[in-house]
Amino acid sequence: MSIFLAACNNQETATSGGDENGNEKLEIFSWWTGAGEEDGLLALLDVFNEKYPDIAVENAAVAGGAGTNAKAVLASRMQGNDPPSTFQVHGGAELNTSWVAAGKMEPLNDLYEQEGWNDKFPQDLIDMVSQDGNIYSVPVNIHRGNVLWYNKKIFEENGLEPPTTFDEFFEVADALQAKGITPLALGDKEPWTATQIFENILLAQLGAEDYGKLWTGEIPFDDAKVVESAEIFKKMLAYINEDHSSRNWQDASQLVGNGEAAMNIMGDWAKGYFVNDLNLSVNEDFGYSATPDSDGLFMVITDTFGLPKGVENAEDVKKFLSVLGSAEGQDAFNPLKGSIPARVDADLSKYDQYGKDTMEDFKNSALAPSLAHGSAAPEGFLTRVNQAVNIFVTQQDVDQFIDSLVTASADL
Ligand code: GAL
Repeated sequence: MSIFLAACNNQETATSGGDENGNEKLEIFSWWTGAGEEDGLLALLDVFNEKYPDIAVENAAVAGGAGTNAKAVLASRMQGNDPPSTFQVHGGAELNTSWVAAGKMEPLNDLYEQEGWNDKFPQDLIDMVSQDGNIYSVPVNIHRGNVLWYNKKIFEENGLEPPTTFDEFFEVADALQAKGITPLALGDKEPWTATQIFENILLAQLGAEDYGKLWTGEIPFDDAKVVESAEIFKKMLAYINEDHSSRNWQDASQLVGNGEAAMNIMGDWAKGYFVNDLNLSVNEDFGYSATPDSDGLFMVITDTFGLPKGVENAEDVKKFLSVLGSAEGQDAFNPLKGSIPARVDADLSKYDQYGKDTMEDFKNSALAPSLAHGSAAPEGFLTRVNQAVNIFVTQQDVDQFIDSLVTASADL
């Protein structure tokens, strides 16, 4: 039986069911649809299909960056006891507070034992997918969230160096604006992209340890450093494209790729987009550096997949997870996705310079979980932060923004 691939964009078509032989299809639920998102997934499914040609796979992806739509569809299916066979979920709070705490996931300790994974994934990642000694999902990758991408030609033609600090950022942005070039591309039609800029400022201002204290309540959201971060954020907003609210992250990255804007701040799935969709080359057409003042810090985003309770084809799901967690699976997926492998034994030759640099950086940086991508704090809090950020981008009222964050922190 050949692989059955049907990318779905709505709930009706994303339901599971049997194939023509009455076997339960392996329904893989994610938000990786096209435009830089899908390539890695399809490569992984190819590896799976080669190993298990008799298991029919349904690619049930729901479009929308950062799971904007997929997470809502997933929540209603989980509530209705109709889980997909397996689904994309970020390690950390998103997995643990949404699904593990609700008793919706099977522990995977036996699979980790069987596959010898306990020393193949960094302990930090295993911790992000564990609760009370049980491991609940398998990380397929590590994305970095604090990356500044820039158009090399624009920087060269204007004799500019990519900024490493906020002071340099504003100098460069002024120089670009004086030449009529949009300094910073933003596409916040889905507000998480703006939240991602803000969390990177928070990380830069607070450092990894204190940034972590925001989510435990040890540092309140009206702390002077948070206020300072909001001020920096506000200042940055003076340099974005006017049509930011009608663009998504791909459309914003496209401005940089096409030379209509100089920089954007985005996770390294943007690299997958630049390379696979715009046919651009790393270090030729576009360059990268850590976002201002965040060298030595690494905003971690890890996509993982687990085994929901109650699925009928649990053994097939485990087979899929074993491929997703294998060196072969990860080295097929990640070079296309833009991420680095979650495993520590990747085949370096499969990765471009960006991938190689990022693997080094991951080993040598202080790690911080992303809020915008669900790892740092529960979904309810993130939803409220996204709303507050969205209002802030338009109104730019720092006091009101800080008040909203303080109020939202009751949900932590
Ligand atoms: C993140 C996810 C990435 C990428 C990105 C943009 O939440 O971890 O894999 O898909 O969203 O959609």
